[in-house]
Amino acid sequence: MEKSFDVAIIGGGIIGSSIAYQLAKKGRKVVIIEKERVACQASSAAAGMLAAQAELEQDGPLFQLALKSQAMFSTLASELFEYTGIDIEYENKGMVKIAETEEIALEVKKQITFQKKWDPTITWLDASEVRLLEPSLSPSVAGGMYLPHDGHVQPAKLTQAFAKAAEHFGAKICEDTEVLSFVYENGQVKGVTTSKGVIHFEQVVVATGAWAAKLMQESGIDIPVYPVKGECFSIRTERPIINTTIFSDKRCYLVPKRNGEIYIGATMIENTFDTKVTPEGIATLIERATQLVPQIKEAAWERVWAGVRPQTGDGIPYMGEHPSLRGLFVATGHFRNGILLSPMTGELVADLVSGRLLDQELLSAFHLERHKEKVS
Ligand code: FAD
Ligand code: GLY
Repeated sequence: MEKSFDVAIIGGGIIGSSIAYQLAKKGRKVVIIEKERVACQASSAAAGMLAAQAELEQDGPLFQLALKSQAMFSTLASELFEYTGIDIEYENKGMVKIAETEEIALEVKKQITFQKKWDPTITWLDASEVRLLEPSLSPSVAGGMYLPHDGHVQPAKLTQAFAKAAEHFGAKICEDTEVLSFVYENGQVKGVTTSKGVIHFEQVVVATGAWAAKLMQESGIDIPVYPVKGECFSIRTERPIINTTIFSDKRCYLVPKRNGEIYIGATMIENTFDTKVTPEGIATLIERATQLVPQIKEAAWERVWAGVRPQTGDGIPYMGEHPSLRGLFVATGHFRNGILLSPMTGELVADLVSGRLLDQELLSAFHLERHKEKVS
């Protein structure tokens, strides 16, 4: 490889690709080093929801990061299309967070009081109103919180678009290359050892998703990231049966994609990197989804898939510089929201790597040693 590159991004998922794009746009010479192919793991398994308000239920740095990131998608979709010709299939038709029973309705209504502070357009729809919006919903549904701004994208296309836009600004993509460890000298990173040999860089960003813990042990620190498998399936109907995303707490969601598919997900199975899809997982999803939208029983079957989310001990990502190795950075642990969080993560981490960090306060909440502080 040419010696003229100065930053290596390890991992060609959505997080690595977004950081690479932002760094390349700033004029940095970037290489993405990916074990397999760009967008081959969690970032192509995701449903692509931009569910800041449906998934996150309390204020804090993660929620603020999510709101800022969500607000970037409209501009990002046009910008990436201009640089790459890839349409990320950004849809902004909203989402309904379903209350299946009167008891859950009370909880969801409490959420609305909190969420309205950030988005006054969020409203409660009772049983008849929610069925006016989405007539295919089961009559047993008690109501729902309507979130007009929780849209979705096609996650594999967004990841590819970030990577291709990075290339547009001079980045190089090095696939089928696994990073095994780091090269350092006097507390400064000097490069990485890969399955194809040593490559020298002054700065390295680890964005290896659920695989980050093992690689970071090579640098002498523990980053407690672990995999949470999620299985999904999709169906197709002759005519659209839902317009908005139907989200039922963490049990099940249905996302109507632009190509006519409805993505239905997802199971949550901790501590496995295995991405096989099981009949048990899909049967559970079918049962939950048909309780919400009975008509899907008659839909045409499309496909199944699975991926592993990178989860952390406290449920928030790690983003920051290594405590003792200068030039080594980490961005991982985006769990259920990596697609949503990718634009802001790209900007913040690229600023940090470039030494021009504008939002120090926000980023400090995600630093790499916080789990140690909690233990002591
Ligand atoms: P990944 O996409 O897993 O990328 C990591 C990359 O690093 C991989 O390509 C891997 O091959 C590579 N790698 C690993 N080790 C090495 C090494 N040593 N050397 C080189 N390369 C290496 N998020 C949302 O925002 N909205 C959703 O609707 C949503 N739905 C989801 C549904 C499911 C079923 C799943 C599984 C996830 C979902 N997510 C969603 C979460 C989202 O997919 C993840 O948070 C996000 O994709 C994580 O991106 P990443 O780049 O960190 O990881
Ligand atoms: N955010 C949806 C999921 O992780 O399944």
